[in-house]
Amino acid sequence: MTRSRYMPNFSKPITEIIRRRFSCRRYLETPIDEGTRQRLLDFMDTPQSGPFGSRPRFSLVAATEQDRRALRGLGTYGFIKGVSGFILGAVEPSERDLEDYGYLMERILLFATDLDLGTCWLGGTFTQSSFARKIALTGNEVLPAVASIGYIADPEKARDGFIRQYAGAHHRLAWEKLLFDRQFGVPLAPEDAGKYAIVLEMVRLGPSASNKQPWRILKDGSAWHFYLGRTPGYREGFFQVLLNLVDLQRIDMGIAMCHFELTAHEAGLKGEWIVEEPEIEKPDGLTEYTVSWKS
Ligand SMILES: Cc1cc2nc3c(=O)[nH]c(=O)nc-3n(C[C@H](O)[C@H](O)[C@H](O)COP(=O)(O)O)c2cc1C
Repeated sequence: MTRSRYMPNFSKPITEIIRRRFSCRRYLETPIDEGTRQRLLDFMDTPQSGPFGSRPRFSLVAATEQDRRALRGLGTYGFIKGVSGFILGAVEPSERDLEDYGYLMERILLFATDLDLGTCWLGGTFTQSSFARKIALTGNEVLPAVASIGYIADPEKARDGFIRQYAGAHHRLAWEKLLFDRQFGVPLAPEDAGKYAIVLEMVRLGPSASNKQPWRILKDGSAWHFYLGRTPGYREGFFQVLLNLVDLQRIDMGIAMCHFELTAHEAGLKGEWIVEEPEIEKPDGLTEYTVSWKS
């Protein structure tokens, strides 16, 4: 399977960057300084393909007052205050476009975290919006989600803002709800994860739409199988149907793959992504196989 072109060059350990990242919803209105902006742009502009081979393109745009106001009408939740910029992306539809989009956009957001910037994923219906015009979306592309970006207003308080508490952002599912040993229903004992324990912990700390944490990972010998455990009713809700919201939980899977691969790389754990669904019984109709990491 296609591997991403290169590993980002972070200034800090990826485990530290992942731990520092949080969904920042209050920013200083100060625009990002030129040097920092340029480093971010250089990283964003490096051609990259996701693990499934799609090649989204990304763009950093200044936020206007109109964009800030438009956000809520586009199906996003939470107030975003004072943001000076957005990262937008466009991708051509393919079977695993959203996973690739999540994977590559998250790398950009981690790079931004390393530059001491705050970010927040925003999922909505952007394809017909002013954001689509800003990235000059072509008829054959979609804009699955955007991210706000800027200087964190109050680094201490920002992490404990109301929306974060409301979204239960501090809450993460316990290890035994996410990780299984050869079959669903058999939790993976932490000591059986070996060197992958830190890799799995970094997946657990990842962002996900409405903090639903839909990743389920199953250890099978030297392979790790990734499944999407869909949240019941999440896509069928009234607003989701009305807004024709993209399948945000597939973006969450791409983010999980990003955290997994970056941490494995840093820990010197070699492996590659393959799509080969194992003959393992799934617990219900809401659980879908995505990909496996073969070490
Ligand atoms: C695909 C995706 C879409 C999201 N959409 C929104 C959104 O519309 N509004 C918002 O305030 N946060 C949004 N979030 C942020 C999540 O609520 C957040 O990641 C989660 O609550 C965990 O909190 P943390 O990121 O601070 O760790 C989104 C996250 C993801 C991954």
